[in-house]
This record gives sequence, structure tokens and C-alpha cells, in this order.
Amino acid sequence: MGSLIINGDNKLEGVVKVSGSKNSALPILASTILTGREYIIKNVPDIDDVRRMLEILTLLGCKANYDNGICYINTKGLDTYDITDELSKKLRSSIIFLGPMLCRNNIAKITYPGGCDIGSRPIDLHLSGLRQLGVDVKEEGDFVLCKANNPHSGDVKLNYPSVGATENLMLFAVGLCGKTRILNAAKEPEIIDLQNYLNSCGYNLIGAGTEIITIYGNDNEVPDNVEEYSIMSDRIEAGTYLAIAAATKSKICLKSIEKEHMKCIINLYKKVGCLIDDVGDYIYIINNGRINAIDKVVTSPYPGFPTDLQAQVMSSLCIAKGISIIDETVFENRFKHVKELNKMGANIKVDGTLAIIKGVNKLHGANVNIRDLRGGAALIIAALSAEGISTLTNIHHVFRGYEHLIDKLTEIGADVKISE
Ligand code: EPZ
Repeated sequence: MGSLIINGDNKLEGVVKVSGSKNSALPILASTILTGREYIIKNVPDIDDVRRMLEILTLLGCKANYDNGICYINTKGLDTYDITDELSKKLRSSIIFLGPMLCRNNIAKITYPGGCDIGSRPIDLHLSGLRQLGVDVKEEGDFVLCKANNPHSGDVKLNYPSVGATENLMLFAVGLCGKTRILNAAKEPEIIDLQNYLNSCGYNLIGAGTEIITIYGNDNEVPDNVEEYSIMSDRIEAGTYLAIAAATKSKICLKSIEKEHMKCIINLYKKVGCLIDDVGDYIYIINNGRINAIDKVVTSPYPGFPTDLQAQVMSSLCIAKGISIIDETVFENRFKHVKELNKMGANIKVDGTLAIIKGVNKLHGANVNIRDLRGGAALIIAALSAEGISTLTNIHHVFRGYEHLIDKLTEIGADVKISE
């Protein structure tokens, strides 16, 4: 599985080009099965989750190639409605094929994605939303069989603004005749990117980014304008590098970012004492000393503080001056990195959804175990700031979501090596 060896405590300096967004690319790649056409999707990050999505598309009978940031996809050959293959079991995000598959074939069979390292990850909101639109849902052990025998447009209410459920409902409703409104929709920027992509393909959606998304669906006319589309930049990768700069007392310039998506994380690091210049189409962060603690960070659906940056921020707060509190309200099991950070000399206590971080002067290198994508990023941040050498095992978790990670870190002066 491979480990990362990091010799920490180096001041870092340089420019990082932020990649395309993983959480925007995955639903957009899944949406290509809506109609059997050709698609060219640009600025797609070369990460394991994208590679698996392309493998699933191929298993479904489609053509899917990746070359230098661009996906060339042709879904004419889609020859099944069954997405229960071994591969889809390995990629939780394959649930996002449910909506477009139902739209294309009126039937879909998918493996129940099951839990992962950050929580149980149920799909009840996806299924209740589809039922509200006339889909017959049968949960059969590991599988879910959905049939759109009498689908209809109309209002569909989400009890919680689930990102994936919102995306699945958007991708199903584009094929329904009439107006569908998703109420209490997720407002993440990746939802806006999906709407922009679908509209570039000829569909008609409005309201993404607000709590009501309206889809003017059509069950006969299939849009046929093949648009080249470029994925938006990854706000979570960008925020991760801000946390790296804050933790290693460095100067980093982030390019190719969309700042309006990063207000929470920019304001947090300004508040704890980093100098951030976010005037142009870049963000320049300088941190010369120990950051201050922050009273409380509460993760919540967008535009709240992103749960996907919780671990990285915690890592940078381990060496802050004072006591910080993080309240993780989105996922029920997203503190797996705490035990590992404490092995490096951090002083963190968990009490339910709260993590209480008492800042220490310095962390020290240690052998730690990566358990999930963003927890792994947190351990990399800690190792970069720690005195001495750290070994981080199971590095494959991090390669799921961070493109060219070793190269980007090395280019800004980090002493990072991979060991098999
Ligand atoms: C997306 O996951 C992201 N993944 C996650 O990023 C991100 O953490 C999450 O949204 C929240 O922003 C992708 O976009 C591929 P949710 P998703 O449905 O859609 C509960 C990363 O690190 N829930 O908004 O699965 C769920 O258990 C990943 O890049 C239900 O109860 O998130 C969780 O507690 C991790 N029933 C909360 O809602 C449902 O049917 C938020 O989940 C669905 C979700």
C-alpha cells in the first residue's frame, strides 16, 4: 500500500497550481451516461477516484479515456443498468450513477455503498427523494433495485441538504417531463458546477447554490450539443495548502483558485494570524510564527465551514497558542486522525462531536497510520511541521483525492519520499 516518509520542520515557499475539483468531477463524469453521446471534460484531476469512475464507465460498456487532464468519453455503448460490480463496491461515490442510470434506462441496480472510514454513509435521502418522483425502490440486502415505472416531475423535499442526494435528483429529474423542484437542496459550489455543466449540454436547470433547484425536464428531446466543459478548481485541495502554510510557517502562493468558494477557510487563517493577500486571481499566504488558537470551528453544509477541511485545520491548530475547539456536525466518525496526531505530540481530546485541541509548542515525528482521505492530509500537514522524521502508512487513501501530491510538496521545499 505504500508509505510516505516526511522529514519535517522545513519552512516551505513557492507556488502551487490548484487542480480541478474531485467532488465536481465525479458527478459530472457520472452524468455522461444520461445520453449516449461524446463528451470532452477538461481540468479533471489525475486521482484514483477519477480513474475508478472511468473504469466503471468502461465496465458499463462506455468508452472512457484520460489524457493530460482531459476525459474523452463516449457513452453510446452503455449496455447495462447494473452497477453492482466489484469496482463500484470499492468506490463509494459510484452511488452517483443511480440518478443518471435511472434517467437513461428507467431502471438501475446498484450496490448499497455502505460505510467508510468517516461514517455509515446511508443513502436514505437519495432513495426517499427518488420515491417522491415516482420511482419504485426495492432494497434487497447489498443491492438496491430502482424502477422508474411511473416517474413524474414535481416538488421533492430533502430532510437534510445532502450533496450526493441533490446531485442524484438533479440527474434523474432532467429526464422528467415538466418542472421539478428540489427543496432544501445542498448549496455546495460543486452543485453549481454540475448545473453549469448540464446546462452547457442543453438541459435547463436554475437555482443551484440556493436551497431550491428547479429542473425543467424533458422526456423526449435529448440535447445533442457536445460541449467541452472545464471543471472548477478544488476548494478543498486549496484549503489544504493554506493549512500546510499555516502549520509550517511558510509562504505559499495558490494559483487557479475560485476564492468565492473559500471564504470560510481564508477568514479562519486570517483570524488566527496568517497574512493572506487574496486580491488577484491567486491567494498568497504568509505565516511567520505560531498561529493563535480559534475559539470554535463548527462544520456544517455550505456555506458553513466545510467538513472536508476539518482534519487539516485541526492539524494546523495542534501547534497554535491556546485552546481551540472543533465541532464536527456533518459526519459521525470523522476524528480518526486525532489518535495519530496525539502520537506526534498533539494534545487533543474528543468529547462526542467536539475535539478540544490544546496547542503545544512543537510536534515530533512518529509512525502514524492514515485511515481516510482528509485525515491523511491532516497527518501530512502535521508531519511537515513536526521536528524529525515521520512515516505515514496507507498513503493510497490520500492519492484518491490529491493530484501530483508529492511533486507539489517537493516543489515548495518539502522533504517527502514514498517507500513501497
Ligand atoms: C459529498 O459526500 C462529498 N463527496 C464529501 O467529500 C463531503 O464531505 C460531503 O459531500 C459533505 O460536504 C463527494 O462529493 C464525492 P452528504 P456525500 O450526502 O454526498 C448523511 C471528501 O473528503 N446522509 O452531503 O456523501 C451522511 O451520512 C468527501 O472529498 C444521510 O444520512 O455527503 C452525512 O452524515 C468525503 N443519508 C451527511 O448526510 C443520505 O442519504 C452529509 O452527507 C445521504 C447522506
